[in-house]
Amino acid sequence: MSKLKIAVQKSGRLNEDSMKILKAIGISIDNGKDQLKASARNFPLEVFYLRNGDIPQYLRDGVVDAAIIGENVLIEKGNDLNIVERLGFSKCRVSIAVPKSSGAKSLKDLEGKRIATSYPNTVNQFLDKAGIDANLHIINGSVEIAPNIGLADAVCDIVSSGSTLFKNGLKEIEVLLKSEAVLATSPKISQDNQAIIDKIQFRLQSVLKGRENKYVLLNAPNDKLDRIVKILPGMNSPTILPLAKEGWSSLHSVINKNDFWDVIDELKVNGAEGILVCPIENMVL
Ligand code: PRP
Repeated sequence: MSKLKIAVQKSGRLNEDSMKILKAIGISIDNGKDQLKASARNFPLEVFYLRNGDIPQYLRDGVVDAAIIGENVLIEKGNDLNIVERLGFSKCRVSIAVPKSSGAKSLKDLEGKRIATSYPNTVNQFLDKAGIDANLHIINGSVEIAPNIGLADAVCDIVSSGSTLFKNGLKEIEVLLKSEAVLATSPKISQDNQAIIDKIQFRLQSVLKGRENKYVLLNAPNDKLDRIVKILPGMNSPTILPLAKEGWSSLHSVINKNDFWDVIDELKVNGAEGILVCPIENMVL
């Protein structure tokens, strides 16, 4: 039986959440420490723990069929590869930053300047688009130190919390792109393995949909149900069950997490009581 080979970051910011999302879709992996390859116990899948920067080429060559990878790495090294699903974690941005004392305010102010980066293709693409000629210094790590040691006038690197920039006395002047973890596939994937990816994608979508929503249960007097039902969108319409207490009902519904607090406020004002909110593991539509 065919097995899907999936690459996951060996160590670094994506590793833990990548393993967590595989677990959330019901795939159990025996994860021995320092292993470079592991098999799933209950799914036709082998996980390869690889270095981030190597993954696009492995995908391109068909050494692995799929990967969980930062979109920023794909844009830099694998712009030709296919993104199947955005995974909503490891969100960051690729930004240009300069020392706090610098007068540079945007990309346009970097004409003739030196930019240190691990993302040369990305930076060049944006510089070309803006018609700016700058000199790139390619560094593979600790990019933010470059201005302090006189190596560059600006840096381009990923920013997540912003703490690395802050600690190195840098300010962000331009966001080139926003990124998150994605599931990408190889152009050489076989039909059998594509069918496995389709299964994984279906499961991922139900987990991601669940994460976007919350399950809400509340009690309300029957004479206030009409108003409350209008506030609760639900997947179809809310479930209403009678309570043992005469004249009262319990309502169950699903609320998008972005509207959540506004909806709760409105429910309270309109007579809802005993509101319970639960996370949703999966939502299959
Ligand atoms: C990245 C990046 C920055 C830092 C930004 O390094 O190179 O240095 O994170 O994150 P922050 O805004 O939350 O401070 P990472 O720790 O991923 O290791 P790397 O040097 O191997 O890229």
